[in-house]
Amino acid sequence: MANKTLIIGATGQIGTELYLTLVEKHGRENVIASDIRSTDNSAFAKAKFEMLDVLDSDQLLKIVQKHDIKEVYLLAALLSATAEKKPDFAWKLNMEGLFNVLNLAKDKIIDKIFWPSSIAVFGPNTPSDNTPQETIMQPTTVYGISKLAGEQWCQYYFEQYGVDVRSIRYPGLIGYKSAPGGGTTDYDVDIFHKAISESKYTCFLEQDMALPMMYMPDAIKATIQLMEAAKEKVKVRNSYNLAGISFTPDQISTEITKHIPEFKISYEIDFRNKIAKSWPNSIDDTFAQKDWGWKQAYSLESMVTDMLNNLGK
Ligand code: SER
Repeated sequence: MANKTLIIGATGQIGTELYLTLVEKHGRENVIASDIRSTDNSAFAKAKFEMLDVLDSDQLLKIVQKHDIKEVYLLAALLSATAEKKPDFAWKLNMEGLFNVLNLAKDKIIDKIFWPSSIAVFGPNTPSDNTPQETIMQPTTVYGISKLAGEQWCQYYFEQYGVDVRSIRYPGLIGYKSAPGGGTTDYDVDIFHKAISESKYTCFLEQDMALPMMYMPDAIKATIQLMEAAKEKVKVRNSYNLAGISFTPDQISTEITKHIPEFKISYEIDFRNKIAKSWPNSIDDTFAQKDWGWKQAYSLESMVTDMLNNLGK
């Protein structure tokens, strides 16, 4: 029988797609979706769904015991742009939520945890091209600081208490099944919707702001591959770099124009540009390739084609 899994923050951008994939793999009865609010997204129409605020450790324990949960994917967090506006709450949610879940594994109530980190752990002093796994970090955003601290806590819980927690530093994520919320890389989903509905898009980042991004099927594949890897193969216990695809707003708009010739991009830079500027242009993911055989499938070209096909263009 498959281990029972709980997804916390299941209705978000990653959670929605991860939920659908895990249900396909393990069956609806083995995957419990939870979030702070209910959803009318049809993906969850038949879901076993629990309302859960991850800051409520009693409620978390109750749900874990009720369903005999062994694996937890903790996806509830404030992302970079929102966290800059609510720094205190972002720190509280991103850190206390993690401790509540790590402590369940420390107490041997659950066996395994997935916790997402981000390219936001890097900062302006990090080498920005092909950023290595181990390098200068010094993040300058609240979100990045919380992710870097979280990574170190994951490693600490692994080393001190043997907690099997696994993590990926996601690039910006692009998908058509769910919407992002509150991130700096969100433009890369919005641009597709606006390209289809209005043939134009106003971007809040500079035209040559290169950022690492990843198509959701690759991100979900990596997440599950890492979680299924034999324990001894998971040698990095803070968080793995994943490269994804690096491109600028100008480059993705050129790619979209191949499908929608009348598409036009314009620019109105806001505070998120400064956040993006502090992050790498591209990432080296040799460790993920070497340790658990990571190989990504999508290029800029194939991602754009697939997104537009699925969004109905
Ligand atoms: N995509 C996230 C954000 O933009 C970074 O992990 O905040």
